[in-house]
Amino acid sequence: MLEVLEQARLLVVTGKGGTGKTTVAAGLAVAAAGRGRRVLVAEVEGRQGLAGLFGRAALDHREARVAEGVHALAVDPDESLREYLARYGFAPLARLLSWAHLNRFITAAAPGLGDVLLVGKVWEAATREERPGSGAYDLVVLDAPPTGRVVPFLRAPETVAELARVGPIRNQADRVRDLLDDPGRTAVVLTCLPEELPVTETLEGVAALREAGLPVAGVVANQVTGDQLGGRAGRLAGLARDPGPLAGAAAAAGAELDRAALGTLVGEARDRQRQVTRERRLLKELRAGLDGLPLVELPSLADGAGGPDEVRALAGHLVAA
Ligand SMILES: Nc1ncnc2c1ncn2[C@@H]1O[C@H](COP(=O)(O)OP(=O)(O)OP(=O)(O)O)[C@@H](O)[C@H]1O
Ligand SMILES: [Mg+2]
Repeated sequence: MLEVLEQARLLVVTGKGGTGKTTVAAGLAVAAAGRGRRVLVAEVEGRQGLAGLFGRAALDHREARVAEGVHALAVDPDESLREYLARYGFAPLARLLSWAHLNRFITAAAPGLGDVLLVGKVWEAATREERPGSGAYDLVVLDAPPTGRVVPFLRAPETVAELARVGPIRNQADRVRDLLDDPGRTAVVLTCLPEELPVTETLEGVAALREAGLPVAGVVANQVTGDQLGGRAGRLAGLARDPGPLAGAAAAAGAELDRAALGTLVGEARDRQRQVTRERRLLKELRAGLDGLPLVELPSLADGAGGPDEVRALAGHLVAA
């Protein structure tokens, strides 16, 4: 993970819905910034998922500094279209039509163009040269669409440009593909939960991304239950049957815990330990399926991962991993 954080120019974070793409993207951005890199973290689905993680109400198309060394951006399709048209000399056309009209027209004319604009914007940020007044970044972290949609999303420029063998659209598509296909510059990371379906979908996702020629760099297993008991877990079964020794210890410590309450506590500890065992088995399966691809584990944070403190904690784990 450190190698990716220090070397990639574009880090694409995908994964099954709800497995922590946005949280992990934020964590990776903060971790890379901690290694001295200038980072932009971008979301493309208009979900405003990143904002809260950096203690903001919302993000927009202006790149805003959200943490030490980290800027964030919510890529806006309309603004991307404006930039795109201006770049290719269509600004006069853009002025003639209302934005809503133009956007509808273009989207109907070329399905997938919306994605072309979003990917194009990410590519622009990742390959931006230092210009006065505009920050260049060492790394762009993309909070990407989920595994099921990420390949068509990243390949949208290519798909649309199939119609154009020459010209600016073809040219940009080629440069986007050059960046995306280059394992020296691009790294795709998948997020996963230690659960049955996400593990299966992650392995399928890795295969689909590789099939499409995209450089998969690793998997982050998120929300892994901590094993606090380890080898001592074997004592739980005995204590669940007979919490007598515990009751004695509790009474000696002045705690008012009767046998029923202690039985409940031990039962919960045992459930948690069963969960740990289940997760270890699934992660073992995942690791075997990944066939040498790096797998990094992130702990499940007790109070969720809703803000900057949790993002910093996860960033610390990513660097240590
Ligand atoms: N390591 C963690 N510990 C505790 N809670 C976490 C952790 N990682 C993510 N979460 C929580 O899990 C939920 C899903 O995370 P997140 O929004 O990052 O997933 P996502 O893959 O981006 O989801 P979506 O597919 O909806 O975009 C959030 O409520 C988040 O706070
Ligand atoms: Mg998300």
